[in-house]
Amino acid sequence: MKWKQKRMSKQRLQGKVAIVTGGATGIGAEAVKIFVENGASVVIADIKDELGHKLATSIGLETVSYHHCDVRDEKQVEETVAFAVEKYGSIDILLSNAGIPGPLSSILEFDLKEFDNTVAVHVRGAAATIKHAARVMVARKTRGSIICTASVAGSFGGCAGHDYTASKHGLVGLVRSTCSELGAYGIRVNSISPFAVATPLTCGTFDMEPAEVEAAGHALANLHGITLKATHIAQAALFLASDDSAYISGHNMLVDGGFSVVNRGLPSIIQN
Ligand SMILES: NC(=O)c1ccc[n+]([C@@H]2O[C@H](COP(=O)([O-])OP(=O)(O)OC[C@H]3O[C@@H](n4cnc5c(N)ncnc54)[C@H](O)[C@@H]3O)[C@@H](O)[C@H]2O)c1
Repeated sequence: MKWKQKRMSKQRLQGKVAIVTGGATGIGAEAVKIFVENGASVVIADIKDELGHKLATSIGLETVSYHHCDVRDEKQVEETVAFAVEKYGSIDILLSNAGIPGPLSSILEFDLKEFDNTVAVHVRGAAATIKHAARVMVARKTRGSIICTASVAGSFGGCAGHDYTASKHGLVGLVRSTCSELGAYGIRVNSISPFAVATPLTCGTFDMEPAEVEAAGHALANLHGITLKATHIAQAALFLASDDSAYISGHNMLVDGGFSVVNRGLPSIIQN
């Protein structure tokens, strides 16, 4: 009966404390909402102060707080982690999700300063956030869950810029490496790799309206009859954050409707 009640309950993160970097908009904002609906208290860590404050206020300041945090700056990351502990008592979940599109320039015209910046957000920023959140989890013996938002571009080339692709591959490597150390403390580390979602990031990169990004996604997608939305990625984050995924660690969960495992160059041999 108890088991049944637990399964029926929507509160899959009851009493947990989460930090969501890049939580002011897009996928991160959806994750913030779903985490709170499931009983968590959340700190939104972002550089878009106005949007972050607005989101926290709209959900309810008793369960969500905004804290300015540029993940490229380790001091700001450390302060954000300290803020979460001070405000809510601990950290159980880290969704390291802050991201930027990076340029779409040719390798022949590559700007290494821009490359450094993309790596600083996606890899260095994630490393700093994992470092400080994991310190708290280890010290408090929290059997925490760390999730990084990577990308389908973290598994193969040709679907994003070189900066973005290289840094997301690096991020998947960071997840695998930190999982190998933190497992000893009962801490799980996983990544989620989305296919194209119409968020400010993709719309900005391709200078498209959300409907245009979704139409382009449909044209490339393997799975028909459904449009990938930020909420689908947030649901995957909820799964990895909750005890429903209690023995999953080091996994790169592709949320791409099978896009990455289908050879687009060959016609299907199955007739339908
Ligand atoms: N939208 C997609 O199609 C897609 C696909 C694959 C992966 N992703 C990844 O998902 C994550 C979320 O992206 P999104 O699509 O929701 O885009 P988004 O632009 O809506 O959200 C990204 C958030 O990260 C924040 N951010 C950027 N730089 C930061 C920094 N230095 N410090 C703190 N916060 C910072 C932004 O302010 C923004 O709120 C990113 O890591 C992105 O690479 C997105």
